[in-house]
Amino acid sequence: MRVLSGIQPSGKIHLGNYFGAMKHHITLQDNNSAFYFIADYHALTTVQDAKQLRENILDVAMDYLAFGLDPERSVFFKQSDIPQVMELAWVLSTLAPMGLLERCHSYKDKMAKGIAPNHGVFAYPVLMAADILIYQSQLVPVGKDQKQHIEVTRDLALKFNQTFGEVLTVPDEYIMEQYAVIPGIDGQKMSKSYNNTIEIFADEKAIKKKVMSVVTDCTPVADPKDPDACNLFALYSLFAAPEEKAEMAQRYRAGGMGYKVVKDALYDKIMEHFGPYRERRVQYEKDVDLVKDILFEGAVKAQVVAQETIDKVREAVGVKI
Ligand code: ADP
Ligand code: TRP
Repeated sequence: MRVLSGIQPSGKIHLGNYFGAMKHHITLQDNNSAFYFIADYHALTTVQDAKQLRENILDVAMDYLAFGLDPERSVFFKQSDIPQVMELAWVLSTLAPMGLLERCHSYKDKMAKGIAPNHGVFAYPVLMAADILIYQSQLVPVGKDQKQHIEVTRDLALKFNQTFGEVLTVPDEYIMEQYAVIPGIDGQKMSKSYNNTIEIFADEKAIKKKVMSVVTDCTPVADPKDPDACNLFALYSLFAAPEEKAEMAQRYRAGGMGYKVVKDALYDKIMEHFGPYRERRVQYEKDVDLVKDILFEGAVKAQVVAQETIDKVREAVGVKI
């Protein structure tokens, strides 16, 4: 099956990105034809500093490779290296009703916060649809917050096919409900924009500081506590084996345990889980040219598929004479 997903290079990767999306991307490499890319033109809607964007792109590339993205099995590339995507985005934008885009959270949230959105923010879902449809993707693994964008993509693909003939594959979303929304250290959804993340490749001291600042209630140490209402427990559960999770829940309910114990356990779990990835990332940091080569080779492969689709699209809409 053609699996495709992308991630914006808009900041440092955190637990939400990993458990909500990247972990599944790695797993889905087995038995699928997977395409993963860095959505650098999407990031340009918010990161408007060239040095910063360059750094972010390489960072996300190294993160993905460190997590086990295997360029021998998956096609790994940068969105901006595939110009056909921009061409398809224009065609799709002529099919996208204003009202549909006005209802998208990506745009509505910015409006609600009083941020004057640019046209790129408004058209964001159309570019995302082009990303997906140009590779005839069948399955798109993303976090729950991207669900609406996949729905827009399906709408646009159906509308294209109805208007111009069956050219585009209508994709399905893939959301692991178990990991649908990872909470941040303040209990809201973990997100770069809320400054509540635990960054996976930060130094150990910084990670410890973040873990120690996970917000908990002020139940006294001696009293029983409710694991199911606890953000810290939710984070611990991401890493714990079922027996460990049950044991920790039992300790919550029994009382006599302070939250510091859980924070220490969470910190140890994070370091243990990501230790091998942290080591692997250092190898890529030492060889940035290798990372650039991998992205370049991926782009060459992705372009072949993108060109096939855009040729069909040109023919179908009538610009090819
Ligand atoms: P952020 O909200 O930090 O800017 P992105 O929008 O760049 O994160 O998300 C990249 C990917 O990670 C998306 O597929 C998104 O759904 C997923 N993701 C981000 N935060 C979370 C979270 N807290 N829980 C689950 N998935 C998440
Ligand atoms: N909008 C996605 C995010 O913020 C990134 C993205 C861009 C994407 N294009 C995509 C994800 C295509 C899946 C498929 O996470």
